[in-house]
Amino acid sequence: MRKIIVAIDGYSACGKSTTAKETARILGFRYIDTGAMYRAVTLYFLEHHVSLTNPREVQKALDQIKIGFRVNKEGRSETYLNGLNVEREIREMRISENVSQVSALPAVRHAMVDQQRRMGKERGVVMDGRDIGTVVFPDAELKVFMGADMLVRAFRRQKELLSRDEMVDIDTIIENLRKRDEIDSTRKESPLRKAGDAVELDTTHITIDEQVDEVVRLALARMTRQPNRR
Ligand code: DC
Repeated sequence: MRKIIVAIDGYSACGKSTTAKETARILGFRYIDTGAMYRAVTLYFLEHHVSLTNPREVQKALDQIKIGFRVNKEGRSETYLNGLNVEREIREMRISENVSQVSALPAVRHAMVDQQRRMGKERGVVMDGRDIGTVVFPDAELKVFMGADMLVRAFRRQKELLSRDEMVDIDTIIENLRKRDEIDSTRKESPLRKAGDAVELDTTHITIDEQVDEVVRLALARMTRQPNRR
């Protein structure tokens, strides 16, 4: 079977990462969480008080940042920023509140997209994000675009934060998701949008297992097809 690129894009808190991770495990592919990369950049910018309106400062900071992923003892991929494990920190609310502004900066996008292309050039990857099927790998063999009802997304995100001992009220989460949807879909540089050839997956009423089954089924169909067919 041939190695392909599975691009999973869509709104926050629709189950993209969970689906992508599990699909990668089943297919024996590498999982790349591109949202984690933008979150790591945001953490660095916050800690070093980088001014987002100063392009020189932004570029200087980007030159100092090295992001990588390592698989932990339980087989889970974790994010490293300049050699330090930041997996927990990048999921905190303070990062969610700033990440859309940081990831809208063209210099940040160029740096991350270059790195993502290098990571996926051997194919055999599942990448999740906002612009994977449109900008990073427009030639991905499988593109999935995920969405879900706002309230369902907000409860899922609240549960995830709670599992990390962070209690955030539902209205604050809805407000954050709305704001991020707005910034992510209206920014000039590679906005969040569905690629013309992406398969749409509404996850409001389906379980994670059902989501994974569907994406794996679609991927296997592509992996056994002749390369010139979509
Ligand atoms: O998937 P996530 O919620 O962890 O992503 C965090 C933010 O990163 C999201 O609000 C927008 C940005 N992002 C992006 O601009 N492009 C990507 N490919 C992935 C994420």
